[in-house]
Amino acid sequence: MTTSPSLDQLHPQFEKAGQEHVFRFWEDLSSEDQARLLQRASEVDLQEVALLVETHVKGGGAHEQGFDNLEPAPFIPLPEQGGDAASWQEAEAVGAEALRAGRVAAFTVAGGQGTRLGYDGPKGTFPVTPVTQKTLFQVFAEKIARSAERFGAEIHWFILTSEINNDATVAAFKENNFFGLESDRVHFIVQGLVPAVDQDGKILMADRSTIAMTPDGHGGSLRALVRSGATALMAEKGIDCISYFQVDNPLIPCLDPAFIGFHILGKSECSSKMIPKAYPLEKVGHFCLQGGKTVVIEYSDLPEEKQQETLADGSLRFVSGSVAIHVFDRAFIERVGGGSDAKLPFHRADKKIPFVNEQGEIVKPESPNGIKFEMFVFDALPLAENPVIIEGARSENFSPVKNAEGVDSPQTCKEDQLRQYTAWLKAAGKNLASDETGLPEICFEISPRFAADKQDFVAQWEKLDPKPEIKDGVVLG
Ligand code: UD1
Repeated sequence: MTTSPSLDQLHPQFEKAGQEHVFRFWEDLSSEDQARLLQRASEVDLQEVALLVETHVKGGGAHEQGFDNLEPAPFIPLPEQGGDAASWQEAEAVGAEALRAGRVAAFTVAGGQGTRLGYDGPKGTFPVTPVTQKTLFQVFAEKIARSAERFGAEIHWFILTSEINNDATVAAFKENNFFGLESDRVHFIVQGLVPAVDQDGKILMADRSTIAMTPDGHGGSLRALVRSGATALMAEKGIDCISYFQVDNPLIPCLDPAFIGFHILGKSECSSKMIPKAYPLEKVGHFCLQGGKTVVIEYSDLPEEKQQETLADGSLRFVSGSVAIHVFDRAFIERVGGGSDAKLPFHRADKKIPFVNEQGEIVKPESPNGIKFEMFVFDALPLAENPVIIEGARSENFSPVKNAEGVDSPQTCKEDQLRQYTAWLKAAGKNLASDETGLPEICFEISPRFAADKQDFVAQWEKLDPKPEIKDGVVLG
């Protein structure tokens, strides 16, 4: 067991960093609160805080990006969009071989709070499927179980949580018997926290004994994998490819053989799937080339005229939307998430952060008073050797649940799942009545335990004899 350093050890360090106010109410605290404060204070990386304050609070930002020399990043198109069918087949075979060899792990980032959805629990416990209301975690678990069965492999699943939702996440898995997975192949990793500061760079206190800490962003997942020992475990198990996806997106094939194959064939350290933007100002990141490096530029940073720019044929120039689907090389994560100089940058976000004032009163600010710092995982791209980007069909990869209503809501996601099932059946030779968007007239479900992606479904359906009737309320598999 590790013991926290004493006040005598920590106070001088905080004083030297100009952050001694963290201990302002020390004398008034109970011994439990003192112990908690010492524990938390000992976890603060004062050097990192000083650098963040220097760069983002006093210095006004790490670097202003110019957009003059921005080019669209090249990508490998789908065969149906003009890509070379033979190279997709080759990639598929290479990816399947890696899966069979147990070289691939799944990695879900689920540390966010899902505030926009207005849902209280961890987002992964949100029910999404059309008939049985399986949760996001269950959908992923079943797809992973199906892939393990299909490729005859042991597949490990790493899940990034935060201090806020880790206990509830682990409890949800235990209550559901790990959704049928072996519990020792599911690994929860709690992401790091960074103190929030005020406009002068002073660490904010949430109350007299609590430092206001916020999660370090999904980019923090890379260092969390290293710090938690997950990458060491992967090395021991012979895992060198990590399939990364977000918790909000049940359409994702968690372990896509072709994507993994292109990553391996390209000797890429970090590969990404692009999805053509649905419309010019869609709120996604953009894959671009900047100074010869592959980067993702968020919609909020890229000037609108760039987002809308078209080519001679009228198509969008910056068409490649980033929807946070990646394959990482383990050694790359060890490098950028470890002690090397290649580190992800932090971004500043101005927020309303409740804090305790000098009088010891808690203040709930009306306007942004504080600054939190986050890392974004896509900032790993410019640090990677040979980054590969492949095209993904939206209908097979992306329909997130982000908002309670409207776009990217439970309703749109349910409809997209129904469209996906209908397209899978069509690919297997079974046509269902549907509208012009592919939405069927009936509500049914294909269990992720039965098939993890379209190709898998076609093969699985083929084996069914007799074929089941697809009618309202049916759950296949
Ligand atoms: C994100 C991407 C955007 C992409 C979109 C696709 C950013 C800044 N933008 O937007 O480019 O097109 O997804 O859906 O990321 N998370 C953590 N820990 C954190 C913060 C987030 O694990 O500290 C996880 C969340 O649980 C979630 C994912 O990261 O799974 C995305 O977070 P969210 O805040 O929802 O990102 P978006 O703004 O929707």
